[in-house]
Amino acid sequence: MGDKMACKPTAERLLNQARQDTEALKAKGIHPHLAVVLVGENPASQVYVSNKVKTCGELGIASTFEKLPADTTTEALLALIQKLNGDDGVHGILVQLPLPEQIDESAIISAIDPDKDVDGFHPVNVGRLSLGEPGLFPCTPMGVIELLKDSIDVLKGKHAVVVGRSNIVGKPMAQLLLKEHCTVTIMHSRTQNPADVCGQADIIIAAVGVPGLVSGDWVKEGAVVVDVGINELTKEADVTRFCKEGSRKMKAFRKKGRILYGDVFYDEALEKAALVTPVPGGVGKLTIAHLMVNCVTAAKRKADV
Ligand code: GUN
Repeated sequence: MGDKMACKPTAERLLNQARQDTEALKAKGIHPHLAVVLVGENPASQVYVSNKVKTCGELGIASTFEKLPADTTTEALLALIQKLNGDDGVHGILVQLPLPEQIDESAIISAIDPDKDVDGFHPVNVGRLSLGEPGLFPCTPMGVIELLKDSIDVLKGKHAVVVGRSNIVGKPMAQLLLKEHCTVTIMHSRTQNPADVCGQADIIIAAVGVPGLVSGDWVKEGAVVVDVGINELTKEADVTRFCKEGSRKMKAFRKKGRILYGDVFYDEALEKAALVTPVPGGVGKLTIAHLMVNCVTAAKRKADV
């Protein structure tokens, strides 16, 4: 039986680092500044964006919040990006995804100045990551690497299996693990014998968006399991599959009619693993903390300090 893997200490370390760096930059007359752009009314995006702006305030990072209507065109959003690219006082630009479907998402991502691209989604930063060059890299995978460094003595040589191949998490996660000298396997929906493949992992990173996919028989004894999935469960049959009657999650479901659940079958995985991150209350904190680090990094590089 393993333990819940706490993400908060790593998130706090990153936030403290960003806070101290912000103070040092301000002492030199540089005020790190993040511009956050939200298009439309997606409720989850509104929560994420307000948490990002709030965290900037807590660390002394300046922020601008640009809220655009749901019917915004690609051209109008591109014009805003150009304005922010040209503003020397703005160090980081974040356009919250997903964008409404009339907007060309890849044109928007490619329009952001790569040195202000605090999400690390621009093709130039994707290339820099795969070449092992300095750049700005995606916040969730970067935060997960910091968590693993805080939790595992030696990453070098470990077999890491990444479940999922998204541009935001799976692919950059695999690149960052490679940089740490892990042996890396990427699994996806067409992978054959998934339990056998995943069952070889010392480290499992689940980021696929399928609730409870990583069941106990996918987990090797003593593995470290990081759950990046956030899925909403609203059907009783799904919840009873993963959560015991009388558990905290089940009580929450009975009260609210919905719960958030990860990509890992938590109770089963915990029986085998050494450590498993919870959902919610897990890696989400790391993402936002690393966004702050990226913003300060962008400001430092611009000032060449
Ligand atoms: N939507 C979900 N995750 C992210 C993220 O990390 N960055 C942005 N910009 N949008 C997101």
